[in-house]
Amino acid sequence: MLYIGIDLGTSACKFLLVDGDGRVQNTVTKEYPLAFPHPGWSEQDPAHWWQACLTGVPELLAGFDAAQVAGIGVGGQMHGLVALDAADAVLRPAILWNDGRTAEEVAFLNGTIGQEKLSAWTGNIAFAGFTAPKLLWMRSHEPELFARIAKVMLPKDYLVYRLTGVHATDYSDASGMLLLDVAHKRWSAEMLALCGLTEAQMPQLFESFAPVGTLTADTAAALGLPQSVTVCAGAGDNAAAAIGTGTVGEGRCNISLGTSGTVFISSDTFRVDPHNALHAFAHADGGFHLMGCMLSAASCNKWWMEDILRDSDYAAAQAEIQPEALGRNHVFYLPYLMGERSPINDTNARATFTGMTMDTTRADMTQAMLEGVAFALRDSVEVARSLGLAIPRSTLCGGGSKSPLWRTILANVLGMPLDLPVTEQGPGYGAALLAMAACGAGSAAELARSMLQIKETVEPDPALTALYDARYAEFKQIYPACKTLFANLAKGAV
Ligand code: XUL
Repeated sequence: MLYIGIDLGTSACKFLLVDGDGRVQNTVTKEYPLAFPHPGWSEQDPAHWWQACLTGVPELLAGFDAAQVAGIGVGGQMHGLVALDAADAVLRPAILWNDGRTAEEVAFLNGTIGQEKLSAWTGNIAFAGFTAPKLLWMRSHEPELFARIAKVMLPKDYLVYRLTGVHATDYSDASGMLLLDVAHKRWSAEMLALCGLTEAQMPQLFESFAPVGTLTADTAAALGLPQSVTVCAGAGDNAAAAIGTGTVGEGRCNISLGTSGTVFISSDTFRVDPHNALHAFAHADGGFHLMGCMLSAASCNKWWMEDILRDSDYAAAQAEIQPEALGRNHVFYLPYLMGERSPINDTNARATFTGMTMDTTRADMTQAMLEGVAFALRDSVEVARSLGLAIPRSTLCGGGSKSPLWRTILANVLGMPLDLPVTEQGPGYGAALLAMAACGAGSAAELARSMLQIKETVEPDPALTALYDARYAEFKQIYPACKTLFANLAKGAV
């Protein structure tokens, strides 16, 4: 048997073909554009995602027996608003997870409605990227379009709909809408009413590993697959990555160094961070998790290398950084290119380089950029530690984990060993395991545990960790010093 895992990412859609023993047989990546129509806004055309599937799946299957494919699972970028009309046509470009246009709506939700109520109804407070504030934004800025919304979908749910014709979502992804009562795994009547929605406009809720249907005849023909292929509900990309990295059950951690950077801590029971700095979401294994999410992680590296340095040789740029320079950099970088979510929840925050002198080199700045992302991830790890959660080690996945230097910096900034699974493609691999579970091969948690293979562990060096502890204490002072300035700059930009 073969299974297809799809990771609907922000910069590309990644397709994995996995056999019944969990071995990756083939991978295909299809890139698509991301639009920033206004500073801090972030949109994408759902048609590009579907187009990526139409070309990516047949390419993935070339040379394989498509009749052996039993299941498809999709993991996807979370929180994005895909609004469909009564004919299931997309009403406007999807507003993505890293879009910061909803500062006013977030202030209304957290301030006027109040964080306590939101947290009681959903387990979470409002963050700019979440779906509910985007719906409020659409209601006041695009009322004609808002009135035509027949279904509110998340990005990967749109793909599942195109595959099966079923309007479905899963608990892990639905958790990030601020419309789900996460503890009870049902839509929040209060939040739907507040956003001017009814339950009929919401997709049907499933566990991530539950089958939602099979391929439509047209889709099967277009993809070159049998119509009998089972499609499961799938998961938000971080929950899917957690399945793909064996992060299931109580107290395990996965860090994803992708476009976003996330710290994901699995748990069997529902738990809320009393300050709501970490998200309290459902997990794809049927349990729950706490998660910190930074908006610009590997995207800082891409921005710095490609947009600023105009250099696509990432390895050569990192080779300029001398091992003895680690922990001793005089330059600091704040990674807030799109504002920031966890833990500061500030759409006005911006990226900065600080501390340059006449002898500062390009290598110092590249190093500062890599370190700034690691420090910001540590911010979320510190919040988890402050809640009494022991995080003795973590798995690491995402494109950024391919860099040996970045892995070393991260292990030492966090002061913990990082286990590297055989494939860095956590969400796509996890999505394939969810498809396997939907086809009856075992529970999602069992499959996640049994399929995990670690190829390397990066151990922290106590001396370097001590140096980074001191640098982190300095890094921590930069954002508070700039916070008011960022807010004033944002006012001026309007
Ligand atoms: C998680 C989040 C991001 C996106 C990126 O809350 O917003 O990790 O899912 O794909």
